Amino acid sequence: MSTIHTNVERAVTRLRAGALVAMPTETVYGLAADARNDEAVRRVFACKGRPNTNPLIVHVGEAAWVDDWAHAIDERARVLMAHFWPGPLTLVLPARDHVSRVVTAGQDTVALRQPAHPMALALLRAFGGALVAPSANRFMALSPTMADHVAHQFADDDLDILDGGPCTVGLESTIVSVFLGEPVHLLRPGMITRTELEVVLGEAVDVDRVGAVRVPGQHHRHYAPRTPCHRFDVDLSEELRSNVNVGWLFCGRPNEVRGPSRDLGSDPACYARDLYAALYDLDHAELAAIYVQVPPEEERWRAVRDRVFRATSP
Ligand code: TXA
Ligand code: MG
Repeated sequence: MSTIHTNVERAVTRLRAGALVAMPTETVYGLAADARNDEAVRRVFACKGRPNTNPLIVHVGEAAWVDDWAHAIDERARVLMAHFWPGPLTLVLPARDHVSRVVTAGQDTVALRQPAHPMALALLRAFGGALVAPSANRFMALSPTMADHVAHQFADDDLDILDGGPCTVGLESTIVSVFLGEPVHLLRPGMITRTELEVVLGEAVDVDRVGAVRVPGQHHRHYAPRTPCHRFDVDLSEELRSNVNVGWLFCGRPNEVRGPSRDLGSDPACYARDLYAALYDLDHAELAAIYVQVPPEEERWRAVRDRVFRATSP
C-alpha cells in the first residue's frame, strides 16, 4: 500500500534508509532515490520495470551541487542554469569519475536538473544531497501529474508519495547536452523551447540527432494510455462522432461528439499542464478508443506534439 502525505521529514528518513519516495516536481512526479546509493538506484529501475540501459536524471537542491557531479563544465551550461534554474531544463554534462554508472547507464555523461517545485526543493535541501528521479510511472506508461496517479500505478508497493498538488508545467523537462567545443543539442523537447534557449545563449541550438549523445528511453510509443489512442486533424466520420464509447481531446477546435470529451484549449502552456491528467481520466473511462486532435505545427506546441504523437503511435 502506498501512503500519500506531505511530511518532508518522514520522506527524508525513508530516503536515508534507501527507500524510494515519489516527489512532486513542476513537470511531472518523480520516483526519487538517493543518487549516491547504488542499491537504492537499482530499486528505482526495478520498481518502474525500466531497462538499466536508460539513464536517470540527477536532481539537485542548489545549482552549486552540479560541480559534485559534472566536470569540464562549459560556460554556456552556467548561463543556462543561471537563467532557467530552478526550472524544467535538464543539462547533460560530462560526469565526474565517481558518479555511479548505474545512474548514467554506463555513459560518461550525467543529466542534471534543479526542479522548481517548492516541495521538491525542500526535500532535496532537507536530505542534503542529490536524488535520482525518473517520472513516477511504470515503464512506457503515462507520466503522473498528480499524487493519485502515482498511487494508482504503484498500488501494490510500499511507497511514500509526497503530495505537492497538480504539476504546473505538466510535461517532462527539456533536455540539452552542453559539451565544450560543440553546439548545444536539444535532446528532448519540453516547455522551454529551442528559441528561448537560443535567445539566452546568443547562438544556435542543434536539434538534429547526428553526432548528439544518445538519449535512451525515447521510445517511439511512450507516454501512452492503455486504451487505443489515435490522432486526428479533420474529416471525422459521423459514425465516430456519434459513438458513445469513443473519448475525445480537443485542442481549441471542438467538434460535436457523443462520447466523453474535453477541450484543452488553444494555449500550449494550459494544454501541457492538463494533457496527462485528461488522458489519464479518459483511460479510466472504459472506452473503446481515444481520439486526440493534433495541435498546431508551431514551435511553442513542439513538446505537446511530441507527446501526443508518441501517445498515439501504433
Ligand atoms: O521533467 C523531468 O525531467 C522528469 C522529472 C521527474 O524531473 N523526469 C523525467 O525522467 O522525465 P525520465 O527518467 O522519465 O526521463 C529522463 C530522460 C531519459 O530519456 C533518459 O534517457 C535521459 O533523460 N537521460 C538521462 N541521463 C542521460 C544522459 N547521461 N545522457 C543522455 N540522456 C540522458
Ligand atoms: Mg519518463
